[in-house]
Amino acid sequence: MIIAPSILSADMANLKSEVDMLNASAAEWIHFDIMDGVFVPNLSFGFPILEAVRRCTAKPLDVHLMMVQPERYVERFKAAGATILTVQYEACTHLHRVLEHIKKLDMKAGVALNPHTPASALEEVAHLTDVALVMSVNPGFGGQTFIENSYDKIRRVRELLLRKNSPAAIEVDGGVTLSNAPQVKAAGADVLVAGSLVFTASHPQEVIAKLAAV
Ligand code: DX5
Ligand code: ZN
Repeated sequence: MIIAPSILSADMANLKSEVDMLNASAAEWIHFDIMDGVFVPNLSFGFPILEAVRRCTAKPLDVHLMMVQPERYVERFKAAGATILTVQYEACTHLHRVLEHIKKLDMKAGVALNPHTPASALEEVAHLTDVALVMSVNPGFGGQTFIENSYDKIRRVRELLLRKNSPAAIEVDGGVTLSNAPQVKAAGADVLVAGSLVFTASHPQEVIAKLAAV
């Protein structure tokens, strides 16, 4: 299982030491939640934080755009160091075009589905999708409770990807805990995002190792 700790819950006053901690952990990716205050009712951070972390780690930067019109910033996120660029399905009028653009710039392309968006939304873009991100909370905030319907949703995404012969990874984001992680994995997840769980732990590296071994 790939673990992607979310920087949203990190101590921003000690970002370098938080990233050093992740560098020495079993985390394979580092997750960035970019919020614009329009698509979601919250603001987070942007390019300076991404660039700063890029200078402190060799791990892939997994950037999750919770913003309207993400197509306006694809080049900027590439330049800032994104490895994987994930857009929200609901925010893209021309999703196919955005995914092609991301891949053309040699990034991995991700599609995030809000809890109300059916797995079938991926039907016509599965071949352009490297990461299918299942939101297991309504996006906007860390520390929310996992939505139980997500298990079935993950299974439906897995079925769709198999049927489409897509090697895309399934990433699950929101409310992941040590107790629900085994069920999330059993449903078909390949990547787990964990924010508050990791960064509020007294031994974050142990939590990451436990999640990775689920
Ligand atoms: C929610 C974000 C998540 C969030 C996860 O809007 O997309 O990545 O940071 O945080 P936890 O693990 O605390 O639910
Ligand atoms: Zn996220």
